[in-house]
Amino acid sequence: MSTATRTTPLFSRNLRKQYPIAVRGEGCWIIDAEGRRYLDASGQAAVVSIGHGVQEIGLAMAEQSGRIAFAHTTQFHSEPAEKLADRVLAIAPKNFRSGGRVYFTSGGSEATETAIKLARQYFLEVKQPSRYRVLARKQSYHGSTLGAMSLSGNVARRAPYAPLIPEWGHVAPCFCYHCPFGKTFPECNLACADDLDSFLNANDASTVAAFLFEPVVGATLGAAPAADGYTARIADICRKHGILLIADEVMTGMGRTGKPFASEHWDLEPDIILTGKGIASGYAPLGAVIVAPRLVEAFEKGSATFMHGFTYQAHPVATAAGNAVFDYLDKHQLFAHVTPAGETLRKALAGLESHRHVGQVRGLGLLQGVEFVKDKATREPFPKEAGIAEKIRQAALEKNVLLYPGQGCVDGLRGDHVLLAPPFIIKPEECALIAESLHYAIEKVFSA
Ligand SMILES: Cc1ncc(COP(=O)(O)O)c(C=O)c1O
Repeated sequence: MSTATRTTPLFSRNLRKQYPIAVRGEGCWIIDAEGRRYLDASGQAAVVSIGHGVQEIGLAMAEQSGRIAFAHTTQFHSEPAEKLADRVLAIAPKNFRSGGRVYFTSGGSEATETAIKLARQYFLEVKQPSRYRVLARKQSYHGSTLGAMSLSGNVARRAPYAPLIPEWGHVAPCFCYHCPFGKTFPECNLACADDLDSFLNANDASTVAAFLFEPVVGATLGAAPAADGYTARIADICRKHGILLIADEVMTGMGRTGKPFASEHWDLEPDIILTGKGIASGYAPLGAVIVAPRLVEAFEKGSATFMHGFTYQAHPVATAAGNAVFDYLDKHQLFAHVTPAGETLRKALAGLESHRHVGQVRGLGLLQGVEFVKDKATREPFPKEAGIAEKIRQAALEKNVLLYPGQGCVDGLRGDHVLLAPPFIIKPEECALIAESLHYAIEKVFSA
């Protein structure tokens, strides 16, 4: 039956929408059941790093599954999980390398949940039981489970669940294009970082366990990197108040921005790093919480037991996929490919910037965003109801290019962008196709 007329038994993301069936992937391309080919310019939400359809990943997973697919972590560890943890620690910022540990989850939201509980329990272990709140920033996204949602500052994604989620505190984002203080870098002297200090001074810092942030804000701000000096300032503020610093690198980790972890662009050494998405490039559901040695030591000297767990944590087949992806990244030196490929993409997009409704093209490596504004001089956004980002997505789809649209970068509601996060193997001619589809979409949407 054609996908256009079929009734799905799935509880879809949008019950009014018909979804094509993806049947095959080849590099940067996805092919549906009707044979239509789509260029995956967003890596399916910044997940796919090595490309689609790499046979050896499935073979490695089958091999592991044939040997042993599952053993519960209360009773066993597995070889692929131990091996992958070693490899992740070896590319993590230096402070993790001797004595750090990795807690594998089945995705980013579980990683955020784990970090919240780890931070809380750490302070129980070091006999500071008043500390439990985890602060985050406005206009951020950290996952869809309720703990992760309570940290997420993404207004639209939080709204329906407001009665269910605690508010521990959200401070200003670091977003120079729409500075929340109306200031300009560097004269601002990083007022956004100091907002964390002011918040802690005004809101009983002795109850705060951690501050969690995205070094490059992905889905919510459309690839907005921290300003230089920001991460060092917040690290100082966290140290001063005795709270943990957690970098959410679910989207930016595992090479996406041109370094293994985006924290490394600023030599940041957080206490915990969350990662996900690219760690298994979509071949298996996998996330990770990377824990610094001093936290591990506190647990070792204390209860030694983390009161937390998932049946499928550190899953042997998922971590086998992670190792096979790692092998592929190593064999083809794909981390090193991200910065030049990002530059090629950026050059291809350069022509967009002169358009009267393209406010900014921004990002790091292969995490790039294009923001659309109503008025380029004032940076005023379009009204939310105009649905610009979604219209751009739909128009680009006419050219068979898949984009990741987002709204709310200005104030949580207004502000339209599309996120580009193609696989690391993207070719110059595919970058050109992405740019062409955006030119087409912009002409179509803004001349309508
Ligand atoms: C920065 C960040 N944190 C956490 C998450 C949640 O990850 P997942 O959707 O795998 O649960 C996401 C997902 O987009 C993310 O971008």
